[in-house]
Amino acid sequence: MRLILLGPPGAGKGTQARRLVAKHGIVQLSTGEMLRAAAAAGTPVGKRAKEIMDRGDLVPDDIMVEIIADRIAQPDCVNGFILDGFPRTVAQADALHKMLGTIGGSLEHAVSLSVPNDELLKRLSGRRTCRDCGAMYHIIFDPPTNEGLCNKCNGELYQRDDDHEDIISSRLEVYESQTSPLLNYYRNHRQLVEVDGIGGRDDVLARILAKVGISKP
Ligand code: AP5
Ligand code: ZN
Repeated sequence: MRLILLGPPGAGKGTQARRLVAKHGIVQLSTGEMLRAAAAAGTPVGKRAKEIMDRGDLVPDDIMVEIIADRIAQPDCVNGFILDGFPRTVAQADALHKMLGTIGGSLEHAVSLSVPNDELLKRLSGRRTCRDCGAMYHIIFDPPTNEGLCNKCNGELYQRDDDHEDIISSRLEVYESQTSPLLNYYRNHRQLVEVDGIGGRDDVLARILAKVGISKP
């Protein structure tokens, strides 16, 4: 299975990708996580990306395309993957189409999660992530048992640098101008599946599974 998860910042792409991966044993490719790992490691690409991400802008297409082309060539992607955060521009979507063509593969669906902006703002400003295992929490919707600590590994929870209100607004604008045209792109390719992203995480997952025709294990 090869799926794309589309949607504005905070729509639940990462949350749902992890659930799909846990249920179906395929790989999650999150470009945001890859860039944050590169930034934490202090690589030249990571340092450049961090500056751009902290403003809420997009990292240039050529860098992103190279990262994804390298990643989907790895053996663990042979049985499929879920792309979370890529493509984000029409140029990236075209590049992905070409990449899949060269490996003789195709995309099953582009799943778009829709959530209104006021809810996105609440989700992002309350998000906390574990520094050690990457588990995600929300201070109101999904708080950890012990404040500031991960339930799974007791690691420290932190707030992403781009999850402050002024940067969230920029990210939402960038989504509207640069990424939302992909909805029409995949609609025209007859690959778009639109899912209401409001409601409990399990309800949203059930909607995705129903729409992409995967039965619950
Ligand atoms: P990235 O990390 O991809 O961020 P994003 O797209 O802005 O998405 P988020 O991770 O913020 O949100 P999400 O939709 O995954 O929601 P989540 O599940 O976390 O990218 C960061 C930056 O990297 C970009 O700004 C850009 O600079 C750069 N970048 C990355 N890819 C790029 C590319 N291809 N090209 C160029 N630049 C690129 O959920 C959010 C919160 O809501 C969590 O707290 C969660 O617990 C909660 N939540 C989730 N679902 C629900 C629910 N149903 N009900 C209540 N709360 C919920
Ligand atoms: Zn943890």
